Amino acid sequence: MGRIAKETIDELTNRLDAVAVVGDYVKLEKKSGRWWGRCPFHNEKTPSFTVDPDRKTYYCFGCHEGGSVINFVMEMDKLSFPETVRLLAKRFGVPIIQDDSGVPVNTSEIDRKKDDLGELYRRVAGSFSYILTETQEGKAALDYVRGRGVSDELIHRFRLGYATADPFWLYQFLIEKGYSAPFLAESGLFTKANPRRALFSGRLIFPIADRQGRIAAFGGRILAGDGPKYLNSPESLIYKKRDTLFALDLAMNEIRNKKEVIVTEGYMDVIALHEAGICNAVAPLGTAFTIEQARLLARWADRIKLLFDNDAAGQAAAVKAILTCRSAAAQAFVIKPSDLAEFKDPADILKDRGAGYLQEFVKNSILDFEYLLAENRRSPDDSDAMRKAKAVASLFPFLDLIGSEVEREAYFGRIAEAFGTGTQSVLYDYKVWQNGGYSVQKTEAVVRRSINMTDELFPLTAAAVNCEANPYLFAKLRSAIPIEEFTDIYAKELYVTLEECNRAGNMSFEALINGVVTGELKQFVVEKAATREFSEKPEHIVADSIIKLKAKNLMRKRNELVLKMRSAKNNGASVEDLMHEKMFIDAELQNLKGVNR
Ligand code: UTP
Ligand code: MN
Repeated sequence: MGRIAKETIDELTNRLDAVAVVGDYVKLEKKSGRWWGRCPFHNEKTPSFTVDPDRKTYYCFGCHEGGSVINFVMEMDKLSFPETVRLLAKRFGVPIIQDDSGVPVNTSEIDRKKDDLGELYRRVAGSFSYILTETQEGKAALDYVRGRGVSDELIHRFRLGYATADPFWLYQFLIEKGYSAPFLAESGLFTKANPRRALFSGRLIFPIADRQGRIAAFGGRILAGDGPKYLNSPESLIYKKRDTLFALDLAMNEIRNKKEVIVTEGYMDVIALHEAGICNAVAPLGTAFTIEQARLLARWADRIKLLFDNDAAGQAAAVKAILTCRSAAAQAFVIKPSDLAEFKDPADILKDRGAGYLQEFVKNSILDFEYLLAENRRSPDDSDAMRKAKAVASLFPFLDLIGSEVEREAYFGRIAEAFGTGTQSVLYDYKVWQNGGYSVQKTEAVVRRSINMTDELFPLTAAAVNCEANPYLFAKLRSAIPIEEFTDIYAKELYVTLEECNRAGNMSFEALINGVVTGELKQFVVEKAATREFSEKPEHIVADSIIKLKAKNLMRKRNELVLKMRSAKNNGASVEDLMHEKMFIDAELQNLKGVNR
């Protein structure tokens, strides 16, 4: 399948009725020239979700989700970009033109490779599943999973499989099916040392799927003999660990319905939870819970509940995951194992106590802050003042990630109360810690990035938001100031994107938004378009900014010259040329002032 031609996407954007499309998912009402509804991305009572029928975009003033209508459908229906374009093109009667010429070859080649890999993994998963459930060879593995309390229905739903004990079987099998040796060597299914030797042999197989349920990798659990307990597929074109969550494809609907997700540690834990009818459970893939995963879940879930192993490693993982959730602006809860519990993880609970007990168990969650507080309160030795201070200080990385001052202040009070000290003292220590005064490490967790408006970003935002109605704004800007003069990374990205749209002869807002790669920038631009801050006299904004930026750059050059002149004087070199240059700059600055008046 070729790529969809740009013309098709442009034509679709032209023809599609944004209100009709979004209206299929959200009840919209027209109020003062805009369409409003209750946001499908977060829980709300009063509508703050808007659709702009001219720009063909959506934006929520509550949760700041926004993008093109195509993005919206992708999000709601869990579709890829081409899938969405095909769907909408059909609806609005836009003929699909496949593009095999204009697109750089390597782009379509990568897409083809992805398709081929996906097809291979699907086929191999099918064979593994067949071997597990239908053959004598898989019998022992099948007994093993069943013995852990997994029903045949779940074995089927999770597409569990068994990789034959013979490590050379898979290669032979696939070659006979017509796959080429070089393709197989790159597939991630074979060892690097011997490309005929399967990575997984004699293991129970857990297929790992993307959000659409397409298998992209495997995890394999050892059943007998020596070796690591689990082996996992390497990352590939179709598999990025940090963006993937085990069973997200199966859990998605329930996560959306409940607005809640349970994150647990391992494959078996997820399966145990689903077995007990708790179908909003997912797990990271043998790595720590990543910020990408947290952000992904925070789109659909208001509450991220952490259910980690009942051991020291599990508790440490929970603390880290809490910080990760807060970095993604999501509130976390911890499902706390009771102190008497002798079991290790959810899989154990299911096996020893049954589904009903597990269901009750997951209801016992506490707020992330309360969990941290309890963890740090464990040694009740209040006489040791220094330990007390340290225990309090270990909560600072968490406080550091809180977006709201009101919320943070409430925590200061709770900490003071719990440790028997004054709120002001906690606050004071926190400020000292923030300035690097204490030895407690600042968390490496990424603080939520937000974009600050700068002198440089200002005119580019104006040009971007109005690019469709007034493409001349950018033309003016680019003829006045070359891209090299910009230092702000977001301003640069908008400049490049506008330039690309300009060159492609498509200055539609849709094209611009699709061209912006950085997530927070895209959100920023859509937000500025929605708030209409830049809709009033954007020509003035651009013209004023050009003068301001030019002056700023000239001043910078002038300062550099002055420094050079000083050092030239010191070592006796001629300053004449430098003087000339400086006079020239001064004259230009004078000119700019004239324009300004
Ligand atoms: P666990 O050891 O808790 O495994 O590791 P589990 O899923 O509970 O499996 P059972 O109950 O022992 O059968 C948690 C997760 O860490 C990763 C896997 O993703 C596993 O599910 N892991 C663990 C590995 O990748 N490699 C290993 O050797 C061990
Ligand atoms: Mn486990």
